[in-house]
Amino acid sequence: MDTINILYISLSGNTKSFIQDLTTYLKLKSVDINEINIKDYPEEKELNTPFVTFLPTFLKGGNGLDNGYTEILTTRLSSYLQYKNNYRNCYGIIGSGNRNFNKQYALTAKQYAERFGFPYITDFELRGSEGDFERIYIDILKYRDQYLLNGGLN
Ligand SMILES: Cc1cc2nc3c(=O)[nH]c(=O)nc-3n(C[C@H](O)[C@H](O)[C@H](O)COP(=O)(O)O)c2cc1C
Repeated sequence: MDTINILYISLSGNTKSFIQDLTTYLKLKSVDINEINIKDYPEEKELNTPFVTFLPTFLKGGNGLDNGYTEILTTRLSSYLQYKNNYRNCYGIIGSGNRNFNKQYALTAKQYAERFGFPYITDFELRGSEGDFERIYIDILKYRDQYLLNGGLN
């Protein structure tokens, strides 16, 4: 049975719900999900196996166009990734948010990709929808394979 490791934070439950639905979807393909929601498990641990990160967007103010790019509420995820260089085992990040935020949509995950040097894989809105599960599963496999082929982050 294949296992996908996921590190994420979910504050109002949307990302958590997405990952629960993804887990149910992948069970049918005999794929298991091993997940840490740092809202429930905030204590930083060293992560030794490759994982994908999921990050919803919570920004301070902003007009969705040209200001308000400061992350709030989710910064614990950044510390977790920094802890013992955990980010080196992250083969990519998936952002989420609400498209009403225009240019700020899913922005924090893009900022993390730049900061840590892992790929921005893709995004989904709120709790995701039916077509997202297969799409995101295929993307995860692609980026994980690439990472393993390269022997880690470039
Ligand atoms: C205070 C606040 C600020 C937010 N800012 C953004 C934003 O800048 N961009 C965006 O795409 N979504 C934004 N959102 C929407 C959340 O990213 C979205 O609801 C997400 O699904 C929350 O994930 P969670 O329920 O797993 O915590 C914001 C939501 C709140 C409550």
